[in-house]
Amino acid sequence: MDTTHRDVIIACDFSSAAETLAFLDKFTGRKPFVKIGMELYYAEGPSIVREIKRRGHRIFLDLKLHDIPNTVRKAMKVLSCLDVDMTNVHAAGGVQMMKAALEGLTRPDGSRPMLIAVTQLTSTSPQVLHEELLIPETMEDTIATYARNAAAAGLDGVVCSPLEAAAVKAAVGAGAFFTVTPGIRFADAAADDQVRIATPANAASLGSDFIVVGRPVTQADDPVAAYERCVNEFCGQ
Ligand code: C5P
Repeated sequence: MDTTHRDVIIACDFSSAAETLAFLDKFTGRKPFVKIGMELYYAEGPSIVREIKRRGHRIFLDLKLHDIPNTVRKAMKVLSCLDVDMTNVHAAGGVQMMKAALEGLTRPDGSRPMLIAVTQLTSTSPQVLHEELLIPETMEDTIATYARNAAAAGLDGVVCSPLEAAAVKAAVGAGAFFTVTPGIRFADAAADDQVRIATPANAASLGSDFIVVGRPVTQADDPVAAYERCVNEFCGQ
């Protein structure tokens, strides 16, 4: 696994295949790494994954599995048949669930997509962590522990805010362990519902390996230009 290879992943949070493919058609020069999330997957099913793969994109299938280990193992076995490059679970499901996910995802020939774990959603504030989830530890300690659990289960990395990427690397120690970071906003744009945010350039300097960018690209007047701006800010560092 090449952890030196930074990339920008576009969150294709659309509700139909038609809208998604029309969006991807704008990218004539290069094939961005795309994230297919719950909205699109639940609307269109595996066929949209196959079509985007057929068009030559790498795919992060972001379904954030979180259930008992046996259910997650069997669901991951089904997903292992889709030719995606990355998929994920919630670290809150625990180490046994993450191990089961890895087992289910591993194909008979030993190959598998990258598997990462969501630590805390980037929309979660410290206040929500303490007052609603009743987790008394700091956000940083919670995320560091969840990242260590993911590493102990054999996962390839975590989803976290760019603001926590360095703490994750420090918690997990040396070795290939990716940080995949949503919560990306340009310096001159609105935060929307995201709380723990950074610009693409900040994310690079904080140690993110992949940034996930949705609305700043998908809702831009010129999505290709917005994507290129992300790539230049993030990979040009
Ligand atoms: O539009 P925006 O850039 O906020 O999109 C971020 C994407 O990353 C969304 O698809 C969201 O579901 C996802 N995500 C997130 N925070 C996490 C995990 C995934 O925002 N911790």
